[in-house]
Amino acid sequence: MDKSYMDSVQNALVHTYNPAPVILEYGKGAYLYDTEGKAYLDFAAGYAVNSLGYGNKEWNEALKSQIDKLAHTSNLYYHTRTKEAAEALKRVSGMDRIFFCNSGGEAVEGALKASRKYAYTKKSGRFEWIAMEESFHGRGFGSVSVTGHKAYQEPFEPLVPGVKFAKLNDLDSVKALVTDRTCAIIVEPVQGEGGINVATEEFMKGIRKICDENVILMICDEVQCGMGRTGSFFAWQEYGVRPDIMTMAKAIGSGFPVGAFAMTEKVAEYSLAPGDHGTTYGGGPLACAAVAKTVEIFEEKHIPEHVKEIGAYLKKQLEELAKKHDCILACKGKGLMQGIQLSISPAEVTKKALEKGLLLISAGSDVIRFVPPLIITEKEVDELIRILDEILE
Ligand SMILES: Cc1ncc(COP(=O)(O)O)c(C=O)c1O
Repeated sequence: MDKSYMDSVQNALVHTYNPAPVILEYGKGAYLYDTEGKAYLDFAAGYAVNSLGYGNKEWNEALKSQIDKLAHTSNLYYHTRTKEAAEALKRVSGMDRIFFCNSGGEAVEGALKASRKYAYTKKSGRFEWIAMEESFHGRGFGSVSVTGHKAYQEPFEPLVPGVKFAKLNDLDSVKALVTDRTCAIIVEPVQGEGGINVATEEFMKGIRKICDENVILMICDEVQCGMGRTGSFFAWQEYGVRPDIMTMAKAIGSGFPVGAFAMTEKVAEYSLAPGDHGTTYGGGPLACAAVAKTVEIFEEKHIPEHVKEIGAYLKKQLEELAKKHDCILACKGKGLMQGIQLSISPAEVTKKALEKGLLLISAGSDVIRFVPPLIITEKEVDELIRILDEILE
């Protein structure tokens, strides 16, 4: 590792991250390579982003050809990729209307605004949100206000008022917070940052029912668990409920920065109107080319089906590993969003993994999460397990 390069970077950036001591150069399939040619099996996918892995020729070509034609237009004009990307997301999400933005946090900000605008137009007098403890929704003021972690919030208080926190999978805790001021309930079907906590079907259906009975909107945050990661295009599709608003980002662009929120026609009729919300870059030609090509490849290659199969294999192998290592307290997750809860420090494990050529990330305080590119194979899962077996006590 080139120490002088690392030092220069550290001196130039605001110190908000603790990056690993590697300088990455390129990727191929599920592997990344550093400047010294060392290979890393990637079970982090850039925080669950690089769904197609690295060096996908079709995706690369789609972006290269688009950049030669047109990179940016602003939202004043549609361009030749707008229709393709919007229709692709409509098709796979089953939602009616899409708003493109640039990140997950922005998608959440937009979703929250959309829910307040709906209440405003309906003159319901509702403005409060119910969110979940241990949730993560982003770093903007709206999104951090609905994030159920004091550590993310405290230095930035006072936050946006009107947020209450219930417990995931405890419907009574949600019911206890519902009042005639509640405008929306926001939930991640599988909490990512919070430690890979899977919502139960009873909980998701219960939220849907509360919303239907009270003119409250259900918002699903699918930024991390969406786009194939759990074995369906979007995780909520496995619960037999449809949200009123949903957010997405990360994997929908497979590495190109793009986010979106989507809503049903019923919400759109009363929600955001011209002038209410906007973004200079959102829905640009490059982002739309990335989304359209990602969805096309997902459909052609049946990626969600692959995730179901390989996710089950990963889960089984992790459960086998847990039988050998007492430090694994629990295995949890869905599809290719799995976690192991540890009695030892996740930071130590990710550090040792890096040395052995394996990229891992933690979640919550005691979980290692596995969110690899969705194209991984059994052989790569076996390699993960072999390295973990060496590292764990
Ligand atoms: C569920 C969820 N929502 C929102 C976000 C924020 O996304 P971004 O970092 O793209 O702003 C994240 C990021 O990890 C997330 O996991």
